[in-house]
Amino acid sequence: ETGYFTYDPGFMSTAACKSAVTFIDGDQGILLYRGYPIEQLAKQSSFLEVSYLLMNGELPTQAEFTAFDHEVTHHTMMRESQKNFLNGFHYDAHPMAMLCASVGSLAAFYHDGLDMNDPAQRRLSAIRLLAKMPTIAAACYRYSIGWPIRYPRNNLEYVTRFLTMMFEVPSEPLKLNPVAAKALDLLFILHADHEQNASTSTVRLIGSTGANPYACVAGGIAALWGPAHGGANEAVLKMLAEIGDVKNVAKAVDRAKDKNSGFRLMGFGHRVYKNFDPRATIIREMTHEVLKELGVSDPLLDVALALEQVALKDEYFIERKLYPNVDFYSGIIYKALGIPTEMFTVMFAIARTAGWVAHWLEQHESADAKIGRPRQIYTGAPTREYKPIITR
Ligand code: SDX
Repeated sequence: ETGYFTYDPGFMSTAACKSAVTFIDGDQGILLYRGYPIEQLAKQSSFLEVSYLLMNGELPTQAEFTAFDHEVTHHTMMRESQKNFLNGFHYDAHPMAMLCASVGSLAAFYHDGLDMNDPAQRRLSAIRLLAKMPTIAAACYRYSIGWPIRYPRNNLEYVTRFLTMMFEVPSEPLKLNPVAAKALDLLFILHADHEQNASTSTVRLIGSTGANPYACVAGGIAALWGPAHGGANEAVLKMLAEIGDVKNVAKAVDRAKDKNSGFRLMGFGHRVYKNFDPRATIIREMTHEVLKELGVSDPLLDVALALEQVALKDEYFIERKLYPNVDFYSGIIYKALGIPTEMFTVMFAIARTAGWVAHWLEQHESADAKIGRPRQIYTGAPTREYKPIITR
């Protein structure tokens, strides 16, 4: 019934849905996108090709990829009047707040003509979201620093185009280190999808009511922002900066073990992986390379490595199978690329848009998709009689 993998009946009864997009084995530390191991895609593919794979189920031929790239490129512009939304925000609004509101507002531009029973129009909506997310994200950043927005350039590939919109100033062309674009492309691949994580399940739950894809993805952005989910990458950098030095690591680990401290090691633990998060392993290796090639040394990397070493040898973490997750190292690379901390979760949202739209499309194509309606265990008062206020 489930294809190549078998599940025990207990698991089957708790599963939110069936999906062919991504497979995770939390005990073995396995992650497959449409059957392809994340390690192979990380080494050989690109984010845009992985987006095609997630949305269509197969790797593209050269002709298919060229057509897809052309289509995405020609939907990167946002409506000029969308800038009015940005101008309405306080300059220091968090970029995730601006991104969530701006993506939701796409429904005001594209929802009316959208026939969601038409597969071609559903696919166009998915392409629009994948194409415009970097443009809107960069615009939110530029607004927050008071710089004019840079328009997407069609002659650039997806990630380079985004970095140019982020960092190019009108007075001179951006001198972009190719290492930066390659590193960000790899981080986007690693963050593109992850089965039924909280934000993807949110997109599917909203989508199950027939809501338009822009509202669904705006809901996914809101869920991702939480520090227990995508917001963890921003929280990791703040935690490492607060620890400050390798000599404070042991104390931080002890604090994380003390339930009353309210302090957790951000970037550690996972709802599914009770072994190493395969993405964390790839990012850890890549962090050293990227910092070396960019000629950047970051004392926070030493703190992170020391924290990992101490925690992985500590009974508390071993017993609870708490390992570094995808967010533990990614912030150090974002920082080395010059991306400000408050934009880290926006990076995650750009990448995860590929997974969100893939799941939204899959849900509409699925014959047994029903409106999401989780049940609950009632813990409230027993049945009782109403009393008029005068008697209370
Ligand atoms: C992402 O779902 C996905 O796929 C998400 C994601 C994706 O790609 O979409 O992988 C991305 O969200 C990664 C996770 C990022 N979040 C963090 O790094 C925040 C810090 N991590 C934790 O808050 C926590 O580990 C969770 C939320 C990620 C997972 O929580 P679980 O599996 O529900 O674990 P738990 O809360 O049930 O805790 C089990 C035990 C508890 O101790 P006991 O009550 O058993 O004594 O482990 C402890 C917890 O207190 N614990 C931690 C800890 N995480 C769990 N203790 C210290 N530091 C931590 N980070």
